[in-house]
Amino acid sequence: MKEAAWWWPVALADDARDGPVALQLFDRRLVLWRDAQGRPSLLADQCSHRGARLSMGRLHGGALQCPYHGWRFDAAGRCVAVPAQPGFTPPDSSSVECLPLREAHGLLWADAGGASHPLPALPSVAPRRLVYGPFDTATSAPRAVENFLDTSHFAFVHEGWLGDAQHPEVPPYEVTHTADGRPVIECYRAWQPRASATSAGGDWVEYRYEVLSPYAALLTKRGQAGGPEDSYTIWACPTTPESCRLWFAQYTTDEDTPAQALLDFQVTIFSQDQPVLESQQPKRLPLSGGEAMGAADRLSAAYRRYLKACGIGYGVC
Ligand code: FES
Ligand SMILES: [Fe+2]
Repeated sequence: MKEAAWWWPVALADDARDGPVALQLFDRRLVLWRDAQGRPSLLADQCSHRGARLSMGRLHGGALQCPYHGWRFDAAGRCVAVPAQPGFTPPDSSSVECLPLREAHGLLWADAGGASHPLPALPSVAPRRLVYGPFDTATSAPRAVENFLDTSHFAFVHEGWLGDAQHPEVPPYEVTHTADGRPVIECYRAWQPRASATSAGGDWVEYRYEVLSPYAALLTKRGQAGGPEDSYTIWACPTTPESCRLWFAQYTTDEDTPAQALLDFQVTIFSQDQPVLESQQPKRLPLSGGEAMGAADRLSAAYRRYLKACGIGYGVC
């Protein structure tokens, strides 16, 4: 599976502090938990004994204890105790699979089997970071990322917020590419009635878009001089080919607006997107034609070509 060459976001950096949590990545059931030192561990959520879900278990002496017969596993997935046989040393074959984890951008990222690309890197962004989510969404991860890159829906889905029904036109823009082939728009200008949580009225906004990895993207917005500079990322975890778990992060120069007000704004915007996103058919993103494309869709088209060039086969059709 080509997708295994990238790292995948699976949880907030602080998740599983209160006990094991069940997760899903590429249709695989996983369990996130923390050892006695609080270090996160991501294991297959299927006991090597009789297949019970380890996420239904609990911690015992810094190990994860299966709910069925109490076998215990360490952070590397090794079985360290079989309570029915005290003193027995379980063989390696009793281990469960362990997926390497890294922390970045306020999230935990998993290696699903041989990640060779580096974690997505951000160009310089404002220092204040807020991470929103998870948003579990009934569409494929690439449909959600394409929506994040799409501006011509603003006048309809975000009317009065990010778009104005009197100005649905998308000015011409140019798509360029990074040295490693990721699509970028350096400058896209749009009129927005309410561009951010602190907007008092409409504003011309300059956008910069950059695809960061197959299911991740960044946009930076600059409003009028003196206004805040905001960057947003979408981090999409493909849970199944037709569902995903999303996080959004905001990086802002706005040091004053309370986090709750910034969160409320993002939740409102995504609650406008979600029903339309979940209505799209097919749920998998078509990479081989079958959907009409216009001049305003240049970035979407470039994103699809990029996924194809990466060999992405999951969540697409
Ligand atoms: S199924 Fe896990 S200990 Fe038996
Ligand atoms: Fe939207």
